[in-house]
Amino acid sequence: GAQAQLSDWLDAAHCAVAFTGAGISTECGIPDFRSPGGLWTQNKPIPFDVFLAMKSARNEAWKRKFVLESAFAGARPGRGHVALARLLEQGKLGGVITQNIDGLHQASGVGEADLIELHGNGTYATCLDCGTRYELGWVKARFDTSGGIAPDCPHCGGPIKAATISFGQAMPETEMRRADALTRQSDLFIVLGSSLVVFPAAQFPLQAKDNGARLVIVNREPTDFDHLADLVVHADIGDVLAPFARNA
Ligand code: OAD
Ligand code: ZN
Repeated sequence: GAQAQLSDWLDAAHCAVAFTGAGISTECGIPDFRSPGGLWTQNKPIPFDVFLAMKSARNEAWKRKFVLESAFAGARPGRGHVALARLLEQGKLGGVITQNIDGLHQASGVGEADLIELHGNGTYATCLDCGTRYELGWVKARFDTSGGIAPDCPHCGGPIKAATISFGQAMPETEMRRADALTRQSDLFIVLGSSLVVFPAAQFPLQAKDNGARLVIVNREPTDFDHLADLVVHADIGDVLAPFARNA
């Protein structure tokens, strides 16, 4: 079956790379973006230029953030996260490229050197002007005591934003370079739980395939790139990766 195939290919690979999307975290209670009930089916994303231009957009962004935060602050890594951490330990995986901002790869024990966060990290915030870091609890205390007004940076007056990438915001340069380099090295590229509709992130699986890597896509639903893949599994990531999450 698919698991045996994947296992053989992982054993044979010189540099296997996992490319994760929101689908790897749904079993942890975190909704994805585009499935029924997904975040973008509930609210339209706030584009970066609107966030910058309008105080009301910043208030709304932080309001949404804290609604999500109260529900998901306690989320634990799922079977997919644990499997990837285990494969890294075993030297069977060369790295993880993620579009996720939930910090669950780190929580499963994946170190900085093995993880590339293309869309930033939602577990803290920064001032967009001076770069000072703020913890979410710090932002929330000010947001709550002001009756729902997003705080500005006490150092420079700049806007404070979760350290994630919004639509229209520049991609992080270092992470893009690292993802590019890792993709070039990869001879097995495994997409896990992404609709593959958001670019430039979705360029990496295409680039890997173009370089001659085997491409595997594990996703509940079909994607536009299924026809390019050497193996497509339309199933739950946790079920597919569960055997890899167990002790050998
Ligand atoms: P999407 O919501 O677009 O896609 C998630 C995919 O995972 C869907 O195709 C689901 O069918 C699938 N899925 C959900 N749960 C699954 C499970 N347990 N097992 C297998 N498949 C499952 O999320 P992403 O592709 O990650 O960017 O979205 C890409 C980017 O769009 C995000 O990083 C975010 C969003 O806008 C920014 O905010 C910049
Ligand atoms: Zn500042």
